[in-house]
Amino acid sequence: MTEAKLEAWLEETRSFAPSTEFAQQANAQPSLYGEASADPVAWWREQAERLTWTTAPSSTLEWDPPFATWFGDGTLNASYNCVDRHVEAGRGDKVAYHWVGDAEGESRITTYAELQKMVARCANALTELGVTAGDRVAVYLPMIPEAIVTMLAIVRLGAIHSVVFAGFSADALSSRILDSDCRFVVTADGAFRRGTASPLKPAVDEALETCPNVKAVLVVRRTGGEVGWVDGRDHWWHVVVERQSDQHTYESFPAEQTMFIMYTSGTTAKPKGIFHTTGGYLTHVATTYHYIFDVKPETDVCWTAADIGWITGHSYIVYGPLLNGVTQVLYEGLPDSGGKDRWWRIIEHHQVSILYTAPTTIRTLMKWGTQYPASADLSSLRLLGTVGEPINPEAWMWYREHVGGNRCPIVDTWWQTETGGILISPLPGITATKPGAAMTPFPGINVDVVDNDGRSVGNGQGGYLVLTAPWPGMTRGIYGDPARFKETYWSRFPGSYFAGDGAKRDEDGDLWLLGRIDDVMNISGHRLSTTEVEHALVGHPSVAEAAVVGAYDEITGQAIVAFVTLRGTAEGGEMDPALIIEELRQHVANVISPIARPRQIILTPELPKTRSGKIMRRLLRDVAENRQLGDVTTLTDPTVVNMISALMESHPSSED
Ligand code: WTA
Repeated sequence: MTEAKLEAWLEETRSFAPSTEFAQQANAQPSLYGEASADPVAWWREQAERLTWTTAPSSTLEWDPPFATWFGDGTLNASYNCVDRHVEAGRGDKVAYHWVGDAEGESRITTYAELQKMVARCANALTELGVTAGDRVAVYLPMIPEAIVTMLAIVRLGAIHSVVFAGFSADALSSRILDSDCRFVVTADGAFRRGTASPLKPAVDEALETCPNVKAVLVVRRTGGEVGWVDGRDHWWHVVVERQSDQHTYESFPAEQTMFIMYTSGTTAKPKGIFHTTGGYLTHVATTYHYIFDVKPETDVCWTAADIGWITGHSYIVYGPLLNGVTQVLYEGLPDSGGKDRWWRIIEHHQVSILYTAPTTIRTLMKWGTQYPASADLSSLRLLGTVGEPINPEAWMWYREHVGGNRCPIVDTWWQTETGGILISPLPGITATKPGAAMTPFPGINVDVVDNDGRSVGNGQGGYLVLTAPWPGMTRGIYGDPARFKETYWSRFPGSYFAGDGAKRDEDGDLWLLGRIDDVMNISGHRLSTTEVEHALVGHPSVAEAAVVGAYDEITGQAIVAFVTLRGTAEGGEMDPALIIEELRQHVANVISPIARPRQIILTPELPKTRSGKIMRRLLRDVAENRQLGDVTTLTDPTVVNMISALMESHPSSED
């Protein structure tokens, strides 16, 4: 973000205490912090009671940094905990999901009893296809109930899901399948976006050309129409799943059984397969969901507006809410599928009481205007949340006023794919919130802000965010690469987990997250590495060299700006710059995903480099954000940046 914006952000002085009414009924009461800090490990052991264990754990934490074991000798079944036990407790008729399709009027209600049967059928089908405990299964599905059923069926069998966001390309899918050697894929023929069917199966077919170990593909029919088919490998869901018995006897697995892998971008071109295990992860998401979202399973209707292809979908659409037995809205479409008031009509129609989404979505809704939220009755809402990137005070205030009617507490939740669940957030009945601040570590979580030498900074100062003690939902590592896990997270400040984020403690000691301090970009709450995009660009035959930076963007938080030098053409002919820029933007979208399409590409004959040949991204960021240039003395040729600045000014930015 620009310096001026950052300053305005940090000068924010407003504060909003919860109403007495909210505070009195809240799940989290002020004594909670003291109870947890007295003995965090014992406190987490108590929270583990939220789960139904087949064998109750006698051990809590074993810590051999950076490798943790939580509840190590306990056994349980994740899917039983999310579904069956609610049915056994007589809550089978309770709605688990109101699924709302992309198209107006398309909806499906699924009760916990129905969900149990769907999961049982799917687990039986996966067994028939050969899935056994420990197998990796790739899931490449849109936001349809089958996605959740599939995830629950996989973990029911003790297998491991690797959900790949359905917006990712065939290349991205195949590299993820290969990295963790997935043997099975569950997908759909296509997905709907604003009424248009877009195919998914062709990307799977293309991806599998390089994945010979995949034995079976299960395909949900969502959009209809022709699909390519490999006999013996491909199976229709409506044939194989629907004919199964709706009874399935589950087995129990150790607490440290790997439950899922979620790929996320780091600072290199290769995404990291972050893996999570069962008992600790489920304890963490069940506990945070209960206290931070203050859920009352009998009355609340919860809507986490995220995609199951990201960690937010895993922790706060699938596992956290289901463990708590709540009713949810599951929405397939985009915020404006069927009109710019679609969201608000969904909230009104389903009487949503708890809404959780990303700042980028709030800014988009804000741009469309207050007339849309004002046109619906939003009085059912009682709590709002945000996640994924820093929220600017302006968007926070808009959310509070125009969505929350100045009555709903807002929880700005900080966490990561690696952390499994929320680590920093207000507690809605306790914390007086400040617009733009994530405020306080969750009970049982130990956070610090440190300087370059690892020393804790005082109030009013900024530094690096670290976690100084293990927590139950923490990743157990990078799949197949323990050395990279140590190096990436545990070497910068020995003994602590380094999150890669900058943070500030204000004068009251409250925490403000300031975004990434490394080469990870955050585009609309999606993590992408600069190197990943550079890698895609230099893979194009016309590109000689590329440097990518994340630049401030009003709507998406950050946007991708790429500086590219082209190869000379053999014939000496000139290419039309506008055409090549468009081609390169499309190329990145094809290689990674449309979310990685650069906002701007600047063609430049040279890139600014230090004498040792390192590209000075910091300077390019200054250029991309129209800032005064920083120190240029280490450059081989200081005139290069001025030339690039001039080029940047003459290039219009391309918007989609
Ligand atoms: C950023 C998403 C500020 C942060 C759950 C982190 C945030 C990265 C917040 C993780 C927040 C997430 N305030 N920044 N409330 N929440 N971030 O792995 O930079 O997709 O490191 O997990 O998002 O992104 P990830």
